[in-house]
Amino acid sequence: MSAPLKADVALQAADLRRQLHHHAHCYYTLDAPEVPDVEYDRLFKSLQDLESLHPYLKSPDSPTQRVGGAVLPEFQSVRHQVPMLSIRTETDTESSGAKAFDSRIRKELSLDENSPEVIYVAELKFDGLAMSLRYEKGVLVQAATRGDGEYGEDVTHNVRTIGQIPLQLPSGVPDTLEVRGEVYMRRDDFDALNERQRQKISEGVRGEKTFVNPRNAAAGAVRQLDSNIAAQRPLSFFAYGLGDIQGWPEHLKPFESHYELLQTLKHWGFPVAEQTRCVQGAEGLIQFHVQVAAERDTLPFDIDGVVYKVNDLSLQVQLGFVTREPRWAVAHKFPAQEEMTLVLGIDVQVGRTGKLTPVAKLAPVFVGGVTVTNATLHNEDEARRKDVRIGDTVIVRRAGDVIPEVVSVVMDKRLPDATVFTMPKICPVCGSTALRDEGEADYRCSGGLFCPAQRKQAFLHFAQRRAVEVDGLGQKLIDQLVDAGIVHTLPDLYKLGLTALVQLDRMAEKSALNILSALEASKSTTLPRFIYGLGIRHVGEATAKEFARHFGTLDAFMGATEEELLSVADVGPVVAKSVISFFAQSHHQEIVEQLRACGVNWAEGPPADKQVQILSGKTVVLTGTLPTLSREQAKEMLEAAGAKVAGSVSQKTSYVVAGTEAGSKLDKAVSLGVPVLDETGLLQLIKGVQDDRT
Ligand code: IVH
Repeated sequence: MSAPLKADVALQAADLRRQLHHHAHCYYTLDAPEVPDVEYDRLFKSLQDLESLHPYLKSPDSPTQRVGGAVLPEFQSVRHQVPMLSIRTETDTESSGAKAFDSRIRKELSLDENSPEVIYVAELKFDGLAMSLRYEKGVLVQAATRGDGEYGEDVTHNVRTIGQIPLQLPSGVPDTLEVRGEVYMRRDDFDALNERQRQKISEGVRGEKTFVNPRNAAAGAVRQLDSNIAAQRPLSFFAYGLGDIQGWPEHLKPFESHYELLQTLKHWGFPVAEQTRCVQGAEGLIQFHVQVAAERDTLPFDIDGVVYKVNDLSLQVQLGFVTREPRWAVAHKFPAQEEMTLVLGIDVQVGRTGKLTPVAKLAPVFVGGVTVTNATLHNEDEARRKDVRIGDTVIVRRAGDVIPEVVSVVMDKRLPDATVFTMPKICPVCGSTALRDEGEADYRCSGGLFCPAQRKQAFLHFAQRRAVEVDGLGQKLIDQLVDAGIVHTLPDLYKLGLTALVQLDRMAEKSALNILSALEASKSTTLPRFIYGLGIRHVGEATAKEFARHFGTLDAFMGATEEELLSVADVGPVVAKSVISFFAQSHHQEIVEQLRACGVNWAEGPPADKQVQILSGKTVVLTGTLPTLSREQAKEMLEAAGAKVAGSVSQKTSYVVAGTEAGSKLDKAVSLGVPVLDETGLLQLIKGVQDDRT
């Protein structure tokens, strides 16, 4: 490959600078970033690489030569007595990043393998904005943003509204004290703020907008000219260092370590993150990095990594600075939780209850540790609010195990032909009318079990462990059976034969036989499982149990009027209406009849008010393994007889049923004198045979 032309490289650098200037302006001055941080970092790194490869490209106006953003003319400019530095970022998000920092430090300090480990302070890297708080004679006199590191903006009027920031310090502090730290917004405060903003927008209040992320919202609040607005946007603060310091009080010994400094700041009333640790060497740093990464999603605020600082202040002095970054500190990042990608299309998925969900199909993007190709848009209103169009560039967020979501559209990159999304008025799977009831956010397919998408979900629901339980009948098999037209309705499952099954993909005869025997076994079920398995909207496992108990037979349940349904414990109008409309559809009644005809069966009994519940008022505890009954079967039998099954033994326990390897519960029963039964005893108890031990 020939070397690139000088002119081409210069053009490339100019283009990168233009983009970086634009994004820095959006981010710092307008508080409205258009791209996620990682994209900015990538552009910045490309320019840095280009400039170091071709040093003649360097120019004083390059974004690589200055840190931060411009100062708004409306704010007073403040000169920092001690410059506000930035920290070098270790972009290697693996543990090796921590090792590399420790090795650099050891080398700089000329330590060899026999020298002791370096002590570090490990802190969180807060995702907010840096702030310098100036106290004179213990009184807060000025709060300034970092700006370009040398000059910041005076935002005292807004910072005074932050409750966590002391306005007055205890006596005995240095005459002049600058505390440095991070102003940020908690995630719950951020969500509540955005909710209020959405409310204002829907009321037509002009000039209001929602915020992209907590940092963006915090920056916006701090840089309000009107502190009344700032006061309505709750901010928080963490202290992490010092700036200017003069007039040291006599009784106080100067700080020797960073940790001691933080402890003192805490003592003076500044919030210091409780996660802050003093650690030893690379191992200590790695442990901290791993631990914080695991806790990241449970923290009430955003962090984008951790910061390591050499603890000993004299070593910090010895290590010094490279340009504007101290050698004694480094930021070790975590993988980004936000990324940018293209919307290739917007699909509509149909759920078990017919709910239509718009889902953005994305160009694959690595975010939050996984490759994401889909992001839910929840419903029509949400899709419209975010105005996501096909062909748009969007910011995608994935934090922890939360499902990926589209945060916002990068408007700057919208193409003129980006297609507006409208919710289809018919089900994309079966073509039935899609309806959106008043007051509901979702459209639903009206096709019920005629709709293949709903049918698949219905099979899966019916076959799950807590319902009728057909072992081995999972999503993949159901997809094949439905797509090939082999099964249409639930009863078709029980008509499956070996010939049909072995024709399916990756289905050996042995697996097919297993499925057939699982189907056979599933025929003996219970009434609550059967009712739950039908998949009636709003009828969960507990409600199904309650219906079975109340009505005793399926026919009584199916024939119940709305009033009768409403008389069942915990059943309200939504559930009652849903049951009525389910059985009002004749094909649902047919399905039930056919399932019975196929041999699906359960024990029925008299309705609850006519039942003599032999164990009502009794509490039973199960422990150990019973010879034939599973724990779940024993529990069901006991509950059907009216007993309550509890997890621990107490004075109130009526019986303990113990199998093999029964542990402390058995010991406790014996010590409390609670009657202990084996499986035979349990079966007799349920049948009403008097146990002579009671
Ligand atoms: S120390 C000399 N500690 O990261 C070191 N900074 O480029 C000065 N930040 O915008 C900074 N958490 O606001 C330090 N625990 C922490 C931090 C932290 C977040 C921010 C800081 C600045 C950037 C450093």
